[in-house]
Amino acid sequence: MASVIHIMERYEAGSGLKKALAMSRTDVIRQIRESGIRGRGGAGFPTAVKWNLCAVAQSPKKFIVCNADEGEPGTFKDRLLLTERPEVLLDGITIGGYAIGARLGVIYLRAEYAYMKPGLEAALAARRENKLLGKKVLGKDFDFDIEIRMGAGAYVCGEETALIESLEGSRGEPRNRPPYPVNTGLVGAPTAVNNVETLIACAQILVKGPDWFKKLGTDVSTGSKLLSISGDCRRPGVYEVGFGTSLKDILKLVEGEGAKAVQVGGASGRTVPAKQFGRKLGFEDLATGGSVIVIGPQRDMLGVAENFLEFFVEESCGQCTPCREGNPKLLEGVRLLKRGKCSVGYLRELQNLGRTMQAASKCGLGQSSANAFLDITEHFRSEILGRVPATKE
Ligand SMILES: Cc1cc2nc3c(=O)[nH]c(=O)nc-3n(C[C@H](O)[C@H](O)[C@H](O)COP(=O)(O)O)c2cc1C
Ligand code: SF4
Repeated sequence: MASVIHIMERYEAGSGLKKALAMSRTDVIRQIRESGIRGRGGAGFPTAVKWNLCAVAQSPKKFIVCNADEGEPGTFKDRLLLTERPEVLLDGITIGGYAIGARLGVIYLRAEYAYMKPGLEAALAARRENKLLGKKVLGKDFDFDIEIRMGAGAYVCGEETALIESLEGSRGEPRNRPPYPVNTGLVGAPTAVNNVETLIACAQILVKGPDWFKKLGTDVSTGSKLLSISGDCRRPGVYEVGFGTSLKDILKLVEGEGAKAVQVGGASGRTVPAKQFGRKLGFEDLATGGSVIVIGPQRDMLGVAENFLEFFVEESCGQCTPCREGNPKLLEGVRLLKRGKCSVGYLRELQNLGRTMQAASKCGLGQSSANAFLDITEHFRSEILGRVPATKE
């Protein structure tokens, strides 16, 4: 397993931006395309495609938004980046703004990260002093500034269209898509929403080149990934590994080898049982925004499912029926299972409900909230069926 630290490497403020401003916008996007980078927020959309769609959209106004909402349970790697590497992030936002033709960048900061705001504001003020923001950035024909806007504690506002609604002062509810934010985003203008880690990696790519980035990873998932690792392991924390690293190697790294399962991608991710620890992180197998929760042998898997479903019942925005009604039904089912009061037939119905939620929910929250329930009831059948009454169908 490669242990090279990539995107956390030392970085001189403005170095990526200087390189970018010496190039045309098209060449900046070309560098990003050549690196193969895909969004680090979880969905893995190719960053160059997103930037290019925004760049070619015809509009007098465009925006770049840094998604620093980081609400997925078990994810804390953006917190580290925001506190330890703000200068790289601000460069990344400015580079993205230049590439798409925006004049304003917005950092949407998680409510719980309000304590970071003064430090980030000070970093922005220093950049204005140093001509890295403001009118004629670095003396070029490019005006750009960055604002910080606070979230209010809703997980769903990490979803990019709900985030935009929230920025506009409305309830944070996901929009119908299409139209996509690259065409119709903030106040109807083309908007690129990118994760903190994506923007930091882009700044590093501008400095070190696409080949440097591709040294780690696979053909489909290039580069490294920051992981927030928690749970039943001796060495939890933030790690950077190449895409393509197996769960087995990750467990070795964090001394969590006795695990019976690993939750990859947070509460909305996949529950991988021990027999599948050979599986690898990457968009071709286990996609993740960076949360890895180690589940030790002593854990009750129904307790794990219950915990996640309580979260989704609380965080569903209630706009669409499959998610609003489905999550409480699954939670009720898990509690029946725990008490030995759920028949095999009803369990099957709940599994069908989970699949319907995946297919019919309006946004990523409802499309993924049944994942853990479905994985746990499939992979831990013997643990669960021991509590199902044998005679009832
Ligand atoms: C319920 C929900 C919560 C999300 N939370 C975040 C988040 O906290 N941070 C983030 O970057 N992306 C989050 N996303 C993904 C965003 O919608 C979007 O795909 C991402 O910000 C795009 O950035 P990227 O292309 O750089 O990954 C969330 C998605 C959903 C459905
Ligand atoms: S899936 Fe859930 S969170 Fe998303 S729009 Fe529907 S009710 Fe709201």
